[in-house]
Amino acid sequence: MFVSQPTVHVINHLDRDYLRQALEHDVRTGLTSSPKWLPPKWFYDAAGSELFSRITRLPEYYPTRRELAILRTSAAELAAAGGADTLVELGSGTSEKTVLLLEALAAAGTLRTYTPVDVDAVTLAAAARRLAGRFPEVAVRAVCADFERHLALLPRTGRRMVAFLGGTIGNLEPATREVFMKELRATLRPGDTFLLGADLVKDTGRLVAAYDDAAGVTAAFNRNVLRVINRELEADFEPEAFAHVALYDARHDWIEMRLRARRDMRVRIGGLGLAVDFVQGEEMRTEISAKFRPEGLRQELVAAGFEVRRRYTDPAGDFTLVLAEA
Ligand SMILES: C[S@@+](CC[C@H](N)C(=O)[O-])C[C@H]1O[C@@H](n2cnc3c(N)ncnc32)[C@H](O)[C@@H]1O
Repeated sequence: MFVSQPTVHVINHLDRDYLRQALEHDVRTGLTSSPKWLPPKWFYDAAGSELFSRITRLPEYYPTRRELAILRTSAAELAAAGGADTLVELGSGTSEKTVLLLEALAAAGTLRTYTPVDVDAVTLAAAARRLAGRFPEVAVRAVCADFERHLALLPRTGRRMVAFLGGTIGNLEPATREVFMKELRATLRPGDTFLLGADLVKDTGRLVAAYDDAAGVTAAFNRNVLRVINRELEADFEPEAFAHVALYDARHDWIEMRLRARRDMRVRIGGLGLAVDFVQGEEMRTEISAKFRPEGLRQELVAAGFEVRRRYTDPAGDFTLVLAEA
């Protein structure tokens, strides 16, 4: 028996030339800076997304479970308040939690289009196909794009809800976050909504454990950025020569993930004609994950031109979901 595959549209703003140029730029900038750093978006090739999925199921990684709990109790109310016919999701990944939102919007009878947006084309297309099969009445239009650069290219028709889940907002530095929120606001019309999931400040031990699990999955995820650079830019990083480091910076209220050189080494990045030296113990930042205080988050949204309509927190007070209106 033939099972027909649902057709989904994937619009790609990240062709190979674009990706290569963006990666070259970021790697050259980050690895010639002092201290060295790399932006987190390059964790996410298909292997990185799979590792992130495994992270979301780890006992130490509470954010996914907490956000799911909030969605379970609040999705219907959010759907009614948003009244959206188009759900745009930034950094959608596997779209696992989004199912709850899609179900609620579909039950409310308003939903017509779902637009997941992600840098990882493979995971994006797989999620889009799965959801098109599950919600045949909804047009799934996936967009492979960088939400730091391509917000203006996202679809602008209909009454939209833009969801940004998983605490991914915390991966943006405060100044970048401010620009991101303002740019997003500029693409929305009155009545459109922004559904934002953010991790909250809490006990340092629990925060660090969530980024340094006992099974070493986060460590593998952290080193995956080196594998991506090896493959895409003909580099010779030895991922295991770097130790995974997670620490909490209480001054900035953020987790930092770093990779620490276990020994002196020279890494060649053939695609850039660059040789980079590391000394033993040198640390390179690969991700920040900012943690928020509810009032601070509200003020950031207001400063960007949003009004907070609804705010939910899980019973443990770990994670918040905010519905803001443009
Ligand atoms: C922390 S994961 C969250 C995934 C999912 N939303 C969740 O809540 O479990 C971040 C997701 O954003 C994507 N991503 C990271 N940076 C991005 C960027 N600049 N533009 C588009 N997608 C990005 C990654 O590929 C990944 O799927």
